[in-house]
Amino acid sequence: SLPLKVDKFLYHLRLSDENLIDVSERFRREMDKGLGRDSNPTAAVKMLPTFVRSTPDGTEKGDFLALDLGGTNFRVLLVKVSDNGKQKVEMENQIYAITEELMRGSGEELFDHIAECLANFLEKLGIKNQKLPLGFTFSFPCQQTKLDESILVSWTKGFKSHGVEGRDVVSLLRKAIIKRGDFDIDIVSVINDTVGTMMTCGYDDHHCEIGLIVGTGTNACYMEEMRHLELVEGDEGRMCVNMEWGAFGDDGALDDLRTDFDQEIDAGSLNPGKQLFEKMISGMYMGELVRLILVKMAKEDMVFQGHTTPDLVTNGQLQTSFVSAIENDKLEGLVSAEKMLRGLGLDPSVEDCVATRRVCQVVSTRAAHLCAATLAAVLRQIRDNKAAERLRTTIGVDGSVYKNHPQFARRLHKMVRRLVPDCDVRFLRSEDGSGKGAAMVTAVAFRLAIQHA
Ligand code: BG6
Ligand code: GLC
Repeated sequence: SLPLKVDKFLYHLRLSDENLIDVSERFRREMDKGLGRDSNPTAAVKMLPTFVRSTPDGTEKGDFLALDLGGTNFRVLLVKVSDNGKQKVEMENQIYAITEELMRGSGEELFDHIAECLANFLEKLGIKNQKLPLGFTFSFPCQQTKLDESILVSWTKGFKSHGVEGRDVVSLLRKAIIKRGDFDIDIVSVINDTVGTMMTCGYDDHHCEIGLIVGTGTNACYMEEMRHLELVEGDEGRMCVNMEWGAFGDDGALDDLRTDFDQEIDAGSLNPGKQLFEKMISGMYMGELVRLILVKMAKEDMVFQGHTTPDLVTNGQLQTSFVSAIENDKLEGLVSAEKMLRGLGLDPSVEDCVATRRVCQVVSTRAAHLCAATLAAVLRQIRDNKAAERLRTTIGVDGSVYKNHPQFARRLHKMVRRLVPDCDVRFLRSEDGSGKGAAMVTAVAFRLAIQHA
């Protein structure tokens, strides 16, 4: 049958349980490497210390500004955390556009734009004369030595603005604000979106100690024992580690599993050789993977009567949101497949639509299962840290693939439970983005700063 033929063609994208257990074990070794002082410099998975030492404890309060940069939307937020016996959070938020030119232009232009959006937001709310504390969710790998200094290691996903790598993003933002001179704020913390998500979810569930993103990019953070964090002084308590797992494989560790399609995606990307695990999984690449596979199948006369069209062979013409639509329940999914293929100028038969759907399923299932494999390694690490026989824990999750794809979450959950049967895992969707979490981190840091001033 046709789906079987497609499966055979995509043999290398279909990972067995043994493959996944193997990936999980490799990732556990990568984690160890990143945590070690001597091995970290050559580690692909950077295991970055975040200087966030606890999840929300219910004492946070005050008014905070938050910025959220690096996902699909750039947002400015005002988060009000009140504590009249029972904690309550209110939020105002505004999405601002970031054009592709800004993402790839000069760093100065980018930060000027961010400062301008902030000014506009403060103006709109009539709070331009208040000096509020701000938490900055900046979803890229950063080297931190404290909460309010964050040096960009390298851009990932769709960003590539010049003159920012190797620089402290807090200084760059401060500079842009001072240059304007029309408002003042107190930048208190910079956090990764995984950390913001863990903190947002941790507000509702005190067992939350892992943050997971499967959106434009993919990454996770978790609470690690200080004694294992050789890069940071001190052995007491815990600290959140931003793993930057998207870079898993950048040293060749996944070469045997990467297909020709994965290599093609990488070669055509903004950051060749980097974020190789991310490129097998996240929303920025999933649709493109499906497109490349369809082109190859057409060329081998398996679909579209051997025809391609100019749109089908053009980069970026197949967005991941189509993959989500096509994997909807049987009929609806096939109708979406037909619509998408017609949109690309093709004249698909029913078999073509069925084959396209199967390609989507294979690609997105691999993505979910790879995430399950790395998550399983994190769960084992936490369980071993606690020397617990059974671990009960919560994972806070966000991202357009996790939230919008109709099958992704279910497949991920199922595989995690199969790979670590001795863990009771709760997956908690973040409904409030990472801004609320950024406010939580900022609240604690702000209180400590005032106490010590
Ligand atoms: C949002 C968070 O909800 O999800 C962001 O507020 C995060 O901080 C984003 O980066 C990730 O998902 P996506 O799909 O927008 O990349
Ligand atoms: C990329 C970034 C990482 C972020 C993830 C999800 O992998 O490098 O910092 O957490 O995308 O947005």
